[in-house]
Amino acid sequence: MAILAAMSSLLPSCVKSEAMTVTSPDGRIAVDFKIAPDGGIYYAVSRDGEVLVDSSRLGLRCRETEIGRAAKVRSVRHSTFDETWQPVWGEESSIRNHYNEMRVDLREDDDCGTLYSLVFRVFDDGVGFRYEIPQQDAIDSLTIMDELTEFALAEDGVAWSIPWDHEYYEHLYEPSLISRLDTVCSPLTIKLTDSCYMAIHEAALTDYAAMNLRVADGTRLTSYLTPWSSGEKVFTACPFCSPWRTMIVAVNPGDLILSRLMLNLNEPCALAETDWIQPQRYIGIWWAMHRKTHTWASGPQHGATTENTKRYIDFAAAHGYGGVLVEGWNEGWDGDWSAEGDKFSFTKSYPDFDIEEITRYAAEKGVRLIGHHETGGAATNYENQMDSAFALCHRLGINSVKTGYVNMLLDGKELHSSQYGVRHYRKVIETAARNHVMIDNHEPVMPTGLQRTYPNLMTQEGVRGCEYDAWSPDGGNPPEHTVTIPFTRCLAGPVDYTPGIFNYDNPVPPYTRPQCTIAKQLALALVLYSPLQMSADMIENYENRPELEFLTRCPTNWEKTVVPEARIGEFLTIARKDIDSDDWYIGSITNANAHQVKLNLDFLDPDTEYVAKVFADGNGADYRTNPYPVEISEKPVTAGGTLALNLAQGGGAAVIISKK
Ligand code: NOJ
Ligand code: CA
Repeated sequence: MAILAAMSSLLPSCVKSEAMTVTSPDGRIAVDFKIAPDGGIYYAVSRDGEVLVDSSRLGLRCRETEIGRAAKVRSVRHSTFDETWQPVWGEESSIRNHYNEMRVDLREDDDCGTLYSLVFRVFDDGVGFRYEIPQQDAIDSLTIMDELTEFALAEDGVAWSIPWDHEYYEHLYEPSLISRLDTVCSPLTIKLTDSCYMAIHEAALTDYAAMNLRVADGTRLTSYLTPWSSGEKVFTACPFCSPWRTMIVAVNPGDLILSRLMLNLNEPCALAETDWIQPQRYIGIWWAMHRKTHTWASGPQHGATTENTKRYIDFAAAHGYGGVLVEGWNEGWDGDWSAEGDKFSFTKSYPDFDIEEITRYAAEKGVRLIGHHETGGAATNYENQMDSAFALCHRLGINSVKTGYVNMLLDGKELHSSQYGVRHYRKVIETAARNHVMIDNHEPVMPTGLQRTYPNLMTQEGVRGCEYDAWSPDGGNPPEHTVTIPFTRCLAGPVDYTPGIFNYDNPVPPYTRPQCTIAKQLALALVLYSPLQMSADMIENYENRPELEFLTRCPTNWEKTVVPEARIGEFLTIARKDIDSDDWYIGSITNANAHQVKLNLDFLDPDTEYVAKVFADGNGADYRTNPYPVEISEKPVTAGGTLALNLAQGGGAAVIISKK
């Protein structure tokens, strides 16, 4: 990798001017900003003097003007920020937000004379920057036709990606050379060198289009914003701030998982009261529909009946689950619902689903009904009913709702990741918050950390989840998928993958089922973080299964998270400490290869005796031939010791460590 000699080596040869530089608090990461003699604006990123991102163009091409073509510096201001904040829920109970900022105020030297700023924040774990356009006389609104932000990567490293326009990000991540990438969405995870991993993404996408990436030339990526159907990318009024463009920079892949840069770049919590926001595990009338033994639609196989729901409520109460999701409870499922989403009612239940009686019964048992608002992509139909729908939830004590948008277009016209979609999803979150409802959003725009501001945005799909293990024609999610998404999709925030299938019976070719052992399913409940998480199987498949104990005990809110070992697409071990007790929980997973873990337990309290309860792949376990055996054992452990875990092919291990 090239050594950063002088900033001039980073820029096209025509560029000669003083670098404006800001470094991370530990001094290792540097961002240089420059204006070329022709007025173009550029940045570059280095670590310990090595170039990671070479001179890269910045700018916004608007219908009214172009920003970053004839720039003049007005002022450069430096500042430092250091604060520790407490999320309402999460993978740790407190997060340090420590960065050095450089704000470069600029003026475009053209007829419009647009005033704008580039704001760079450099953290020890990476970089964020954004465009800011203040209120000004010359211009009151902008139509952004293209964002010109580039990421000129210094090496042709390996990138794990999915196409930008595949159905709701439900795709398998593929590794490829950066130079071979098609148009992909972010997060884009990159192994630049053996000691440099990066993830390019964005933070605080609130009223803009999602940023996708495509190769401009060689290893130079350029942003491609999801367009409106009319071709424009973003309509905005001044003052205006773009989302943050983010780059996590890490020595090893485990540190990508531990970075909180995206959350730090979102605005603090906007809600005055948050006591009603409660992370939890739940069960649902769900898998039976995906396995086609029940239907969403009315009729003899209707899953959402009062009787069936009460059975699930009883099971939840008996096993400590906080809620029961019921899909197919409302009018609109009879017919081609994904094409006719405007037939959905979000207040009228089917006659065999007595919502008043069900919510009364649930309250008596200390369980909540979890609402379901599938829109079939008909966003306007949903917006028209949203206030009354969430008011109904509030009245009935339904404090979380799963939303869904199964249609390639919203309102038959706009992409989910367009500004249109982004605005809709934010409206849902805000309306839900006013009614004290938590949201689990399926078919979303890729998350960008908005849960810091709206902690009722609990979790989102945007992943090829466990539903593919019910019906995917390729037989189910391959074993490497779940060892890849923690380093890709999950960097964008909590994921509603819904592991926990215990019964793999499927007599119908191609015999689609989870392509992993049961012990790995347990581990996934810990590894794939989600503050609301469904144990996805039908309750009859959980009866008399001692390994259910791990799912019912595993918390969804943590004091601390560590990543003892990690290799993208191969294996991963995560340990998390419960926020409400001294217990630690560990999940370890592997791809199709068996894997042996010798886990150093140095994260435990010293001089303390613990007991580890291990849910491991049992004798002869193998994801293809024998996925079921789980061996449950207990052994004493201490901070100085190690724990050996033998993961079968496609296997895993889940562990609970408690003080003696
Ligand atoms: C797709 C969602 O991802 C799935 O969980 C849900 O069951 C169906 N849509 C129906 O809403
Ligand atoms: Ca889905």
